[in-house]
Amino acid sequence: MLNIDPTTTVAWKKLESHFEEIKAVEMKSLFSKDSQRADDFSIFWEDFLVDFSKNRITKETQQLLLDLAEDCGLEEAIKSYFEGESINRTENRPVLHTALRSKKNDKVFVEGENVIPEVFEVKAKMEEFSNAIISGKTKGYTGRAFTDIVNIGIGGSDLGPAMITEALKFYKNHLKVHYISNVDGDHVQEVLKPLNPETTLFVIVSKTFTTQETLSNATTARKWFLDSASKEDVQKHFVAVSSNVPKVAGFGIAKENIFPMWEWVGGRFSLWSAVGLSVSLAVGFTKFNELLEGANKMDQHFKNEPYIKNVPVQLALLSIWYNNFFKAESEAVIPYSQYLQKLPSYLQQAIMESNGKSVDRNGNPVTYETGNIIWGEPGTNSQHAFFQLIHQGTKLIPADFIGFKESLYKNKDHHDKLMANYFAQSEALLMGKTEDEVRKELTAKNLNEEEINDLLPFKVFQGNKPTTSLLIDKLTPESLGKMISMYEHKIFVQGVIWNIYSYDQWGVELGKQLASNILDEINKRKVSKHDNSTQNLLKSYLK
Ligand code: F6P
Repeated sequence: MLNIDPTTTVAWKKLESHFEEIKAVEMKSLFSKDSQRADDFSIFWEDFLVDFSKNRITKETQQLLLDLAEDCGLEEAIKSYFEGESINRTENRPVLHTALRSKKNDKVFVEGENVIPEVFEVKAKMEEFSNAIISGKTKGYTGRAFTDIVNIGIGGSDLGPAMITEALKFYKNHLKVHYISNVDGDHVQEVLKPLNPETTLFVIVSKTFTTQETLSNATTARKWFLDSASKEDVQKHFVAVSSNVPKVAGFGIAKENIFPMWEWVGGRFSLWSAVGLSVSLAVGFTKFNELLEGANKMDQHFKNEPYIKNVPVQLALLSIWYNNFFKAESEAVIPYSQYLQKLPSYLQQAIMESNGKSVDRNGNPVTYETGNIIWGEPGTNSQHAFFQLIHQGTKLIPADFIGFKESLYKNKDHHDKLMANYFAQSEALLMGKTEDEVRKELTAKNLNEEEINDLLPFKVFQGNKPTTSLLIDKLTPESLGKMISMYEHKIFVQGVIWNIYSYDQWGVELGKQLASNILDEINKRKVSKHDNSTQNLLKSYLK
């Protein structure tokens, strides 16, 4: 990968002056001047329509952004990414979640060894295991079939599978899948309370198997289980997903119940590995595999499609345009599907843990903005919550609107209402409402001149707020796989251009270290020297 400060490129300089020309341009005037605009700035790919015409760009912007990608060596970087070079340099690892959804005959080499046969071995093990649990062939310690699965993990070992399980609820079988992540003991108790140990299977997911939250929750779950069962029964009710096999064995989980994962898969990109075991249990392995196939299709699109029609590339460039030139600090993700309610929090980890970096690949502090803040909630709920700020607040918040042409239960009446909101909101954000329009509206309501002038400023909508609309045929395992893979590659492109390492996460370490020291003080009930505030808080906690 080239380690280029993007601000030193010719394209960046041109974008800076281009920004001065475009910053005040109204998108609605661009639309009225060009009847082809929607087509020109849309990508039709498989069952996806990605319409980014409601963004503050022109053809020139698009070209300059593409030049920026070229100046920053995107092509070479994509090659390094897919071919397993150690692009996660600070941890000296390749980044190969794409290998997890490869085809059986593909070859991906890590240190000279093709890893695909091993990936397929683990997939076969997942399939066999999922089938046996779902069918009731494998039984619990009293001979009863399993009814409940509890996934214990945190971060990438929780957010991905939890989001996918929720998103694919429509395709679920009879197994009830629960997720425990927080070390908050109340969370653990609330999940365990209604469960029967005889019919509950625990899936402990931790790449490192050293994460405090997961180990504490797994230990509590085992204690709860042992209140009814014997030590020998643990083997039947606890399985693990980890790359740290010796540590898992130390916990008392049988070797054959360990699903391996690899160092070359980052936690936040691991749902495609055995970390997705709970998903495979929830919807069956076939559907899980369809998710992988969808992701693989997007991988091929990203790898092969010219950038002008390349969805992840275009999305990443737009994001850079707003972040670095308009100085937008955040991006909203608004899925018009309740099934995708966990998508924003999943993306928060994927995007913010990856690109929340302030040192560049040369080890120098960056002089420009990097990772954006990601937030969101499903529409229409969010319209009745925070949309006021997007419409009339002082901040520019580019938003992704995700909608589906078909609802899963085919409730057309509801779906039309839902989608009417999806279309209306992005139109309102684009068009706004002018003084003239407000005046006409209030006059029609028989308000007098004084009343109109009084209300007018509050009722004007500036508009010109950027949105990108993703319109997908239907929420299926495959389309979901495509969408998640799309965001993964968007993250990658941003990281390449920002010249940062997207695949480490050193920033989460300090808090962990301090928490471990403080826990020691709490256990000993002896507060050591801290800043004044922390010291007072601790003393008050221990009183
Ligand atoms: O919070 C940091 C982190 O390392 C994440 O990147 C990761 O997904 C999470 O902790 C959980 O880690 P593990 O799977 O090793 O328990």
